Amino acid sequence: MKILGIETSCDETAASVVEDGNKILSNVVVSQIDIFAEYGGVIPEVAARSHLEVMMPVINKALSDASCNWDDIDAIAVTHAPGLLGSLLIGTLTARTLAILHNKPLYATHHLKSHVYANWLGSPDISPSFPLLAVVISGGHTQLLYMKEHDHFEIIGTTHDDAIGECFDKVAKILGLPYPGGPSIAKMALNGDKNRYKLPHPNVSNLDFSFSGLKTAVLRAVQKECGLPISHPSHDLKNHLSDSQVADFAASFQKTAVDILIEKIRMAVDEYPNIKSIVFAGGVSANLALREEASSSLSSWPVFFPEPKLSGDNGAMVAAAAYYEIKSGVEPADPFKLNIYPRISIED
Ligand code: KG4
Ligand code: ZN
Repeated sequence: MKILGIETSCDETAASVVEDGNKILSNVVVSQIDIFAEYGGVIPEVAARSHLEVMMPVINKALSDASCNWDDIDAIAVTHAPGLLGSLLIGTLTARTLAILHNKPLYATHHLKSHVYANWLGSPDISPSFPLLAVVISGGHTQLLYMKEHDHFEIIGTTHDDAIGECFDKVAKILGLPYPGGPSIAKMALNGDKNRYKLPHPNVSNLDFSFSGLKTAVLRAVQKECGLPISHPSHDLKNHLSDSQVADFAASFQKTAVDILIEKIRMAVDEYPNIKSIVFAGGVSANLALREEASSSLSSWPVFFPEPKLSGDNGAMVAAAAYYEIKSGVEPADPFKLNIYPRISIED
């Protein structure tokens, strides 16, 4: 079964053809990073307009790279939740129109579910086994999900404030590193001393997270290091830091964020002792320091990471998620009525 997956929930316009939920025949991603690097963050209106400009060329390239025409496609899948309203609208309206025009069944997937299913792309012989712990770490979400079987998600931990990716992005801004912050911090941290600055772990006793305090702790530590008062504007701090201080702050912050994550994962597997594998998902799962730490300190469980290029937003994961929805008996959506849900939970 060949599924065309379409993803436009934030600032990537993506389409992919995937066969039987795991074999990627094509994967086209047009990122708007260059546009938003200038502004230091995503501007929703601009994102929607950019999706509109490249949506059809991206889909046509996904079909031609896969050597497919419309007759070869068995179903269309699209992200309909959560995400930026205008961005979701462009993807879903395109998918609805194509489903009607080419008479294809249409499946609507939740973005976090798709991130998790990026772990089923690739060889079917080494898929995660259930029940599993999914660690969803992206720009908008930080959640621990208990997945007892395919297409079944229970949120067992979530963030009270900032998402971990958002925290990387905000700390990068303080340090004067370019957007998106995650890759910039990871790169800078390679030359830094991760033990130079001691940063606090949040005081959250259950499986939940809090990352806004960590961002503020970095801000205060930078102000202190520069000998500036706490009233000093954060946008100017970068002008007072040397390259080696920036590298040490990046490394110390990254280490703390990774340690916080690993600590919660350990608590989760203690609380749910029947967990058979640990699956990472979302943009932050591309982080190399996290990958290294997870493989060494969680070595008692099979640990899965998506291929780095599939950690961020892409259409292949949407097609994979839809494949397992179809296998679980989910009915196709009505292409004349499919709605978008910018803020809906994965449990709804
Ligand atoms: O999943 P994603 O592409 O989009 C959302 O669904 O949010 O995640 C984007 C987030 C951004 O916050 C970005 O800074 C972060 O993932 N990110 C990383 C890395 N690559 C991307 N964070 C840490 N290390 C990375 N290598
Ligand atoms: Zn995402």
